[in-house]
Formats: sequence, structure tokens, C-alpha cells
Amino acid sequence: MLSGIRATGQHPHGKYYGALRKFVKIQDDYDCNFFVADLHALTTNPDPAQLHANVKNVLAEYLAAGIDPEKATIFIQSDVPEISEMYLLLNMHVGIGELMRTASFKDKARKALGLSAPADGEESDEAFECEVIGASTNKRVNAGLLTYPTLMAVDILIQKASKVPVGKDQLQHLELTRRFARRFNSFYGVDYFPEPTDFDFGGAPVKVPGLDGSGKMGKSEGNCLYLVDDPKVLRKKVMRATTDEGPQAPNSPMSEPVANLFTLLELTSAPDVVQHFRDAYADCSIRYGDLKKQLAEDILTVTNPIRERVADILADESYLRRVVRDGAERARARASQTLRDVREIMGIRGF
Ligand code: TYM
Repeated sequence: MLSGIRATGQHPHGKYYGALRKFVKIQDDYDCNFFVADLHALTTNPDPAQLHANVKNVLAEYLAAGIDPEKATIFIQSDVPEISEMYLLLNMHVGIGELMRTASFKDKARKALGLSAPADGEESDEAFECEVIGASTNKRVNAGLLTYPTLMAVDILIQKASKVPVGKDQLQHLELTRRFARRFNSFYGVDYFPEPTDFDFGGAPVKVPGLDGSGKMGKSEGNCLYLVDDPKVLRKKVMRATTDEGPQAPNSPMSEPVANLFTLLELTSAPDVVQHFRDAYADCSIRYGDLKKQLAEDILTVTNPIRERVADILADESYLRRVVRDGAERARARASQTLRDVREIMGIRGF
């Protein structure tokens, strides 16, 4: 079992419900490996001091959420240099075209170039590719962004992981990982890499919606709750979440912003609370303000203890150092064996 979170700053709730919460639940039953993806974070050229602080934050949030370094291996991606070498090797079997068609690449490349997303079906692959290839040097799309899925596949394959708990947005990357594993095995006529699958304990991978009425919870203003949000800030954000004018007739369908609030409620609150508000929506007696108040309090019940532990853990430098050193040692043991095998399979052999 392996999964990672990019070191891009504080954890939005999406990452908690989509990933972190699952990690904590499965650590007793599987050989778990969780890492902080700092190399992946480089694709957006972060400020160096900020990157280091972000790595520490993700690490502290892993620990504060309840991942136990005695049970699971916790490590920093860049502490395993074997990953970088295998990234080079695997790239020899990855097509530029398939990378360019990845949804996350298109998204990020558009952002880098300042292009807006087209309405459904409006843009052909060729038009998009022309924009990327023709971009001027000051608005370039860096090659690391393109090969992001190769690096992610290597994270998984180098540990020979077979189960990868992720949110919905990562499923395409996982599909590519399987494809690369199959391709490698068949090219060299070996049965070396297992094909990893996403992992969930009951139910499909989630997409945690944002507060602004559409899409997933990302980092944009007004859309995102952070695990470490101060209660006052968090309450304010939830109270400001987009809604509508309320149901006009019994049992009417929900608008997207309201459905999103119910999704958040389902992730956080007790089933009878969710049912209470569903009934109130159905008979038109619902007051969104009440729902939001309840939602904010239920979220805080989950996040308050985590936020407090994050602060304590961040202050304990020697503990953090111990955790990542032990984790790196364990992660490298497996990674270096895989790299040795892969070099041998590909014909990079010693004299
Ligand atoms: P990242 O850092 O963007 O997100 C970490 C995890 O959180 C999930 N997630 C969500 N789930 C539901 N709703 C949301 N709104 C939401 N936002 C984030 C993501 O699906 C992910 O599981 N490429 C990965 C990091 C990575 C990785 C790996 C993961 C690098 N190598 C190897 C697994 C295995 C990423 O960017 O996740």
C-alpha cells in the first residue's frame, strides 16, 4: 500500500477526506507507505524556503492526523534518490502524446500559459498541443509538468505497491501507472511490476467539493477549508458558502452548490444529522444557515484536535528528524532493490 501528498502548503479538507483519513484507517491492516511528494511540488517552481516549510507541514499533518510511524513507513520522496534515477529509466517507455493528453497536464499547462479552459469539446487535442509547443519562453510549460505521471508511476512501482488509496482526481494517473507497468513487463518479457489498483474501503473514491458552488475543493479563495484553519476563520468560510434561494416545491432536485454542502455534511456529520437536513430540504423547511452552522461545528470536531497536534509536532524537530530518517531507510531498502532489478532487466549491467 502506498500513497503520497504533494508538499504544496496546508492541507485542504479535500486531501484529508480524499487521502489522509483513509491512510489512518488502513495502517493497522496493511504494509503502508506514505510519503511527502516534494519532487512533484517542484513542478510549480516554489520558493525554496517555502517548499521546505511545506514538506514539514505535510509531515506534521500526517502525524497529527494519526499516522503512526511505528506502523507505517513515512518518508520524504527526495530522500529516496533511487526514485529520480528510475524516473529517467521509465521515461524511455512513456509517450509524449499520452502525457500531453492527461487531464491534469492540460489543466496545469493552461494555467501556466494563462489560457482558460474550453467549454466541453470546444478544443481539439491539436489546438491545445500547438499552444503548448508554441509557447514563448517566458510562459513555458515545464517538462517536469509533462512527465509528472511518470514520476508518480515510479513512486508506486519502485515500491512494488499493489494498492494505492487516492482521491478521484488521481485515477487517471493510476491508469497510466498500470499501462506503464504492463508496457515495461511486455517489452522486456518479464512479469516484474504488479499492476496497482486504487483502494477504498467501501464506496468509490471521493471528490470533496469546494464551497463556491462548483468543482472540487481546491486552493482558491472562498472555496477551500484547511485542516489547520482557526475555528473563527473556518466558521466564517462555511457560513459564506454559496447556496441558492431554497427549494421552491417539495422534493425538488438540488442545485450543485447545495448538493455540494450535503456532500460535505455526509463526509463529516452523523447519519441522523444528514437525514434531518435531507428531510428538511425535501419538505422545504430547510434553513441553509442552520445546515452551515451544524456543518462548521462537525468539521471543527474533527479538525480541532488535529490542528492542536500539528503545532506541537512542528515544534519537535528531533522527532520529525527521527521519523523521516527511519522512513527513508525503509523506503530506500525496497527502492534500491527494485532499481537494481530494473537496471539489470534494461541491460545496464556492471563489468
Ligand atoms: P495531491 O497532493 O494533489 O492530493 C493528495 C491526495 O488527496 C486527494 N485529494 C482529493 N480527494 C478528494 N477530493 C478533493 N477535493 C481532493 N483534493 C485532493 C488526491 O486524490 C490525492 O489522493 N499526484 C498526487 C501525489 C502523488 C501520489 C504518488 C499519490 C505523487 N506520487 C503516488 C499516490 C501515489 C497528488 O498530486 O496528490
